[in-house]
Amino acid sequence: MNIAVIGTGYVGLVTGTCLAEVGNNVICVDIDEAKVAQMKNGKVPIFEPNLEELFLKNIKANRLHFTTHLKTALDKSQIIFLALPTPQDEDGSADLKYVESVAHELGDLITDYKIIINKSTVPVGTSEIVKNIIKRKTSVAFDVISNPEFLREGFAVQDFMTPERIIIGTKSKKAIDILNKLYSPFITLKRPVIVMDEKSAELTKYAANTFLATKITFMNEVANLCEIIGANVDDVRKGIGSDSRIGNKFLFPGIGFGGSCFPKDVNALVHSSDTAGYNFQILKSVLNVNQSQKKSLIPKFKKYFNNHISSKKVGIWGLAFKPNTDDIREAPAIDVINELLLEGIEITAYDPEAMPNMKRIYGDKITFCNNAYDVLKDVDCLLINTEWREFYSPDFDKMKKLMKQPVIFDGRNIFDMEVMKINGFHYESVGRKI
Ligand code: UGA
Repeated sequence: MNIAVIGTGYVGLVTGTCLAEVGNNVICVDIDEAKVAQMKNGKVPIFEPNLEELFLKNIKANRLHFTTHLKTALDKSQIIFLALPTPQDEDGSADLKYVESVAHELGDLITDYKIIINKSTVPVGTSEIVKNIIKRKTSVAFDVISNPEFLREGFAVQDFMTPERIIIGTKSKKAIDILNKLYSPFITLKRPVIVMDEKSAELTKYAANTFLATKITFMNEVANLCEIIGANVDDVRKGIGSDSRIGNKFLFPGIGFGGSCFPKDVNALVHSSDTAGYNFQILKSVLNVNQSQKKSLIPKFKKYFNNHISSKKVGIWGLAFKPNTDDIREAPAIDVINELLLEGIEITAYDPEAMPNMKRIYGDKITFCNNAYDVLKDVDCLLINTEWREFYSPDFDKMKKLMKQPVIFDGRNIFDMEVMKINGFHYESVGRKI
């Protein structure tokens, strides 16, 4: 099939590359000329495991192309994916200016039947808005479909290739038939297509993300309670996770969720519910709890040092909002660093991928180190914000020799409590007794 993907962010690029990989002809469109030139030269603009290999393979096979010229892409394609940014507005709502502007262009440019598929996370009713904009401009037949993506950063290629489900939101029989064919390489009995109306599909995406954010937040509160009453959240997690109605995933407590999706989507659903006249109380609590959870290592650190902290030197492991990404959007590390800088604390930091992005924010206010051990030289304590694999089995003796004091505040529970005790560390984590 001939496909155009408009927007080459993380969703668009992964969608385009993976659809090319199963034999389609894909042309990706972006207004950013430098980015398009870069991609034409075989450079992937984002860090995403396994993407580069597929990207290069499909460019070579002549199935994956790039352009800044929307009309060229539209003329060649029947299926048009919209993978455009929907940034958060000041009031928490999702800003649709990019989606709406492309809808106007589509209305001006299409000359034959197109299936226009919304991949971005967009508020309920967006398919209708796009449909109405295009309808006002053309008499050509078209369908607008909601087909939300459920890709996780760091696993995006895997999630696209083996989705747990594909949601198709449309009432058009013609579009359903074409999309069933398009997705046939990915569909199995265990990985079904679920067809519903546009609004339900749009809400499914928000409900999925905000449910997961709520699940994490619930566990974070359980962990906070564990610390007070002296229970162990690891055991509680295993205890409840073995109930198949609860499931054992997304129950890991920590210093809060971040990234470009959960915080934005919870805010957007709160906002659109308010607008619809519904007070989505549980999600408002999720936002409040998560905000304080992101800073929850700070009181532990202050308490340990009896509030004498201004002369302390602090090492940080992990800056990305989660492992396997260089993404620092809404990363808890930012809240932690801001609090420490306010107290005038000297900071050294290391992250395998996210340091260039952090340098753009903090410049020389932080010392960025070449590896995890360099962070530790003469620090009074280490704070862990991201559970990168390479942090899991360090040389504890080497760490102790480098650190001024063997003190660790771990926001991701990466070490075993017993092991830390044996190795002589003062080790505080989330929801586990000191
Ligand atoms: C999330 C969803 O998982 C995807 O299904 C969805 O497609 C994507 O948003 C999106 O809307 O585009 P992502 O933001 O990449 O994906 O990250 P996750 O792996 O879901 O993690 C989100 C946050 O939750 C991270 O900050 C992570 O540290 C935190 N988390 C996750 C926990 O604190 N505990 C857990 O048990 C799991």
